[in-house]
Amino acid sequence: MTKNLQLNSEGKLKHFLTIEGLDRQLLIDILDLAESFVGMSDQRIKKVPLLRGKSIVNLFFENSTRTRTTFELAANRLSADVLSMSIATSSTSKGESLLDTIRNLEAMYVDMFVVRHAISGAAHFIAQHSAPHISVINAGDGQHAHPTQAMLDMFTIRQIKKDFSKLRVAIVGDILHSRVARSDILALNALGVAEVRVIAPKTLLPTKVETLGVNVSHNLVDGLQDIDVIIMLRLQKERMSAALLPSESEYFKCFGLTEQRLKYAKPDAMVMHPGPINRGVEIESKVADGSQSVILNQVSNGIAVRMAIMAMAMQKQGGV
Ligand code: CP
Repeated sequence: MTKNLQLNSEGKLKHFLTIEGLDRQLLIDILDLAESFVGMSDQRIKKVPLLRGKSIVNLFFENSTRTRTTFELAANRLSADVLSMSIATSSTSKGESLLDTIRNLEAMYVDMFVVRHAISGAAHFIAQHSAPHISVINAGDGQHAHPTQAMLDMFTIRQIKKDFSKLRVAIVGDILHSRVARSDILALNALGVAEVRVIAPKTLLPTKVETLGVNVSHNLVDGLQDIDVIIMLRLQKERMSAALLPSESEYFKCFGLTEQRLKYAKPDAMVMHPGPINRGVEIESKVADGSQSVILNQVSNGIAVRMAIMAMAMQKQGGV
């Protein structure tokens, strides 16, 4: 549904709202461009002039540490002018509608909105109602999508495992409420992994989850067999409308990733987590901080991947 909206008439990226409808080659192009930005973090001057003269506004209507900060750093490194709006102190808190906020920012000659919102579809709505020259990047909308997180996850997997085609990837935990899980499943399947397996209690899985292109396990030890990549998810209590679990300690007993349980996956399995992590709820500290964990590599890679996505989305305006 968003394919036409995300791509311009030449098939180039205009908005980045969801992985759905994007082909494998475009995802590879993002990963390759991000690769060219990775080394910049070690350079004395961490900037390229690709988006000089462009104005980017970060609109975060929901809390964030990693996404907001890495988007801001990425925009700075592309030499854009970047403004992170504090929604709590903006006129939204005085009753201004989302559309009026957007119209007012447009009047300030903004070129790109980076949007996080608790409502699924918010970034899509803004993209539909913004001026034609504006690009919108989805930084996480409700339970729907977190496509830049998926791309930094894919980048981190490729960095270590090189070839997607033989990989078996397990996503463990609260799949039901997770926008990261949805976007990761779409990206992993588009990039051609051998298997995506979701491991969760029945109460934390969407109905007909198999139709997303995954195998299902309700047992962590069985589910980790032959797995190359483990993506752990936190319990998204803020999105749970009912008690879906007996308790956090009961959940950890059955689905928490411990050193002992990690041994059931392949010996070189990498452990990922989009953050924020809840130690002792879905993951043991020894695993989160252990040698197989790439959780902080994911955060670092977020800068290069978000630079690539912003640069590509601006391409259609002659900004690159
Ligand atoms: N992974 C992620 O989206 O983290 P933040 O909520 O801190 O941005």
